[in-house]
Amino acid sequence: MRIRSTLLITLIAISGLFFSCENKSMHIKIIPSPSGRLYSKPGSFKIDENTRIVINSEEERAVAEYLSNQFKKYSSLQADIIKFSELKKLKNDIVLYIDPQNKRIKKEGYIIGVDKAINIKAKDNTGCFYAIQSLLQLLPPDFYSENKADEYIIPLAFISDNPRFKYRGMHLDVCRHFFSVDFIKRYLDMMAMYKMNRFHWHLTEDQGWRIEIKKYPKLTDIGAWRIEKDGTKYGGYYTQEQIKEIVDYASKLNITVIPEIELPGHSLAALAAYPELSCNDGTYKVENNWGIFPDVYCPGKESTFVFLQNVLDEITPLFPSEYIHIGGDECPKTRWKKCPKCQKRIKDEKLKNEEELQSYFIQRIERYLNNKGKQIIGWDEILEGGLAPNATVMSWRGISGGIEAAESGHNVIMTPNSHCYFDHYQGDPEFHPKAIGGYTTLKKVYDYEPIPTKLSESEGKFILGAQGNVWTEYIHTPEHVEYMMMPRMVALSEILWTRKKRRNYKKFRKNLKDHFIKFDHLGINYCKGSYKVDIIAEKDSTDNILVTLESEIPDVEIRYSLNNEQLDTSANIYSKPFTINESVLIKAAIFENNAIKEKCSELEYTKHKGVDKKISFKEKAEHNYSGKGLNNAIDGFKGSKIYKDGYWQGFYNKDIVAVIDLEKTTKVDSVECGFIHKPKSWIFEPSTIDILTSNDGIKYNKVNSYHPKSQKDLESLSIQRVNIPVNKDCQYLKLIAKGVKTMPSWHPASGEPAYLFIDEIVIY
Ligand code: ACM
Ligand code: ZN
Repeated sequence: MRIRSTLLITLIAISGLFFSCENKSMHIKIIPSPSGRLYSKPGSFKIDENTRIVINSEEERAVAEYLSNQFKKYSSLQADIIKFSELKKLKNDIVLYIDPQNKRIKKEGYIIGVDKAINIKAKDNTGCFYAIQSLLQLLPPDFYSENKADEYIIPLAFISDNPRFKYRGMHLDVCRHFFSVDFIKRYLDMMAMYKMNRFHWHLTEDQGWRIEIKKYPKLTDIGAWRIEKDGTKYGGYYTQEQIKEIVDYASKLNITVIPEIELPGHSLAALAAYPELSCNDGTYKVENNWGIFPDVYCPGKESTFVFLQNVLDEITPLFPSEYIHIGGDECPKTRWKKCPKCQKRIKDEKLKNEEELQSYFIQRIERYLNNKGKQIIGWDEILEGGLAPNATVMSWRGISGGIEAAESGHNVIMTPNSHCYFDHYQGDPEFHPKAIGGYTTLKKVYDYEPIPTKLSESEGKFILGAQGNVWTEYIHTPEHVEYMMMPRMVALSEILWTRKKRRNYKKFRKNLKDHFIKFDHLGINYCKGSYKVDIIAEKDSTDNILVTLESEIPDVEIRYSLNNEQLDTSANIYSKPFTINESVLIKAAIFENNAIKEKCSELEYTKHKGVDKKISFKEKAEHNYSGKGLNNAIDGFKGSKIYKDGYWQGFYNKDIVAVIDLEKTTKVDSVECGFIHKPKSWIFEPSTIDILTSNDGIKYNKVNSYHPKSQKDLESLSIQRVNIPVNKDCQYLKLIAKGVKTMPSWHPASGEPAYLFIDEIVIY
């Protein structure tokens, strides 16, 4: 008791000292940025051979050992651990004190005071561990260099901190490609540095079953191995002993491991081992293609549930996590529709359709797991056909699933593919390793806000946090995993930890520089960023267009040119936003060593007859692909080959019918419009484009049609710009672009509907 109060007084004294000092926290570069108070003051603290780690009780020993091991690994310091009761005199020591009764510190939170000693105070072991992560970030990044120094200088500081969200997750798919136990530990180490606390381990898939199940040895004898296209055997799995080793390793880093056992879809590896679990009892192979496959578990058979329950009986003791992820995504219902056993199940259980059969499946598994004291997480498809009563929803197809679940009182983890899929490109594809697609820059991750504005304050409380996902179809090696996660995970950590008002991209990006030095020392293969210039055009108050040039990398030299000016070292250096009000082609690039670093970005503004007139669409663009809104097609700006650049609108399984009201009779020579053609992303140019004119907006006459010639190459990516002669005086113009109704036979998703993307409708 006496010891506790002594420590308390020391800490209060130190806090008081810092409250009064000037805020000079510039050189504290902790990421995620602390949520509470953050002060530094002139002067410094030396950690040297005299520094010991002082613990108040055995409570702090595990964290003390972690810190001591870090010192031993990266420096020549011994950092012995001693008990406060055995301390004769406090020197330049690091004092750890966990006090569960402390009312001022929140769960997982901590206080650090660096003055004559370093005093660390937390309510729980986790908070104490996070204080150590922050303390390690107060050290210079060269701490991690090969030179093992025997003293380090850190700023005098006071920090109080606690997280905004309780679920701060990272996911890894070890099925599409397999990763060793050592790499999983390294992955966990990287997570822990940034206070991420949930590891979602995607362990079963069409392409491989990766966890030993003793009752079903064929799951790994057969299901863990696939024959690649070149004939080689690929695979691997974790034994239960290895699983325990990793779960234990993670728990020391305050990370909970959540296993994902996919059902009912993405289950071909299990069916290859035990075909009797399918509807057709066919023969299956462990897949060597990526995609969505029709053969899935048969819920018509009781034996399927017996199998899954037996599997879960072995899973649950291995993972202390409250949650088990049961997948639930991308399950085609084609086999169930034809399976007599599935149809009998639908009838017997009085289900409406196959969607409800999927819900029946999930709810049965949920009941089983709930009875074992576990909760389920499922991908947002588990909302379809009725949500399992206690399920937590992982919202991945955008945010709408998360909104729906939160509105109905279910917990939610946000992982929208637009911001949280770290298998997407993080810069221009030309300068980055091949990825699955998408475009999710570091800045975009940083700008993500997990609580949708649509939710009320009370509904927002159901958002437990968010997660970055690393799917590995195109990621074969540990180095590549690192490249995709770092530093995007670091940005996500700040979103999830730091108070919203504290978030500041420029500051974050500046702080990141030191972290890059640390990564260099640790051999972490991080991405240095996107060297693309974003050309942002917005109307100002005087109706001029204000152009801002942005780079997600700070302090770079951006040059730009207008129209046909050369973009070289003689071009304008960008210093502040400028306005345009006539048609213009803007080019901009980052320059390094007097040369363009990657390539130039372009944005063309065309002041045509349709700009700022009225436009209406018969059916709206898809929510996720609505660009800058309704006026996107007549704002004067054309899109780039990145269909998510904000200048495109995407329509799924419907035609585009757009009417432009030119507000008075206008001579129209021609109409130019652009469509994207990217079969791999299910985007096809239209099959026909019709232009109609009218003077009253009621009666339209067709004036011309155009039939694009479709490219049959799956890998092709092009913008089709067509100029269609009109030669009419009219007030209203109607454009009808008919999408391909189903994708053609040469496409892997043949028969499915396609997307249709349009950018600007230019009226000459
Ligand atoms: C998913 O990306 N299919 C959850
Ligand atoms: Zn069936």
